[in-house]
Amino acid sequence: MSAPPPPAALARLALPDLDATRAFAGAVAGVARRGDAIGLAGALGAGKTTFARAFVNARAAAAGGGPVEVPSPTFTLVQPYDIGDTVIHHFDLYRIERPEDALELGIEDAFADGIALVEWPDRLGPLLPQGALLVTLLQGASADARDAEIAGGAVWRARFGGTLDRFRA
Ligand SMILES: Nc1ncnc2c1ncn2[C@@H]1O[C@H](COP(=O)(O)OP(=O)(O)OP(=O)(O)O)[C@@H](O)[C@H]1O
Ligand SMILES: [Mg+2]
Repeated sequence: MSAPPPPAALARLALPDLDATRAFAGAVAGVARRGDAIGLAGALGAGKTTFARAFVNARAAAAGGGPVEVPSPTFTLVQPYDIGDTVIHHFDLYRIERPEDALELGIEDAFADGIALVEWPDRLGPLLPQGALLVTLLQGASADARDAEIAGGAVWRARFGGTLDRFRA
């Protein structure tokens, strides 16, 4: 059986500073729903955890809650957040050796019930859900600048509509 096709490129965004990355994460948080998987790719220090932190906090604020501390799950590998009626699982798969190791972390239940934010989604191989949104963060032209490549299916394109236009490169 051949591998499934990669998700279609949706946009390339320019994030000139930390606030822009936070605002972009907030925009994704605004359209995310239970059952979504969001892969966060990019090199060490690209801003994956920064995105996840802003995503969780945007969801918390929208649910009427206060600020949430979101440490990097470098060692725990997964950290759950109960926010409103949704559990957000934040995974860091850098250290897993095989895709199957993610099953022991309960990643399938996380995909089924809540929202999963997955750093190092390439570690999942074929276990990354077909409908996932993939965000790849890349170093930009200055120290604090990042570019973001967004890929996902038609469902994501429809949900975003024009909301990403203000970030487009
Ligand atoms: N525009 C920006 N977007 C995101 N992070 C930025 C930006 N500008 C500067 N930074 C800084 O870059 C660092 C990104 O670190 P972060 O832990 O989010 O990276 P990471 O991709 O999760 O790394 P790792 O692979 O080690 O998990 C932070 O110190 C953050 O403040
Ligand atoms: Mg990280």
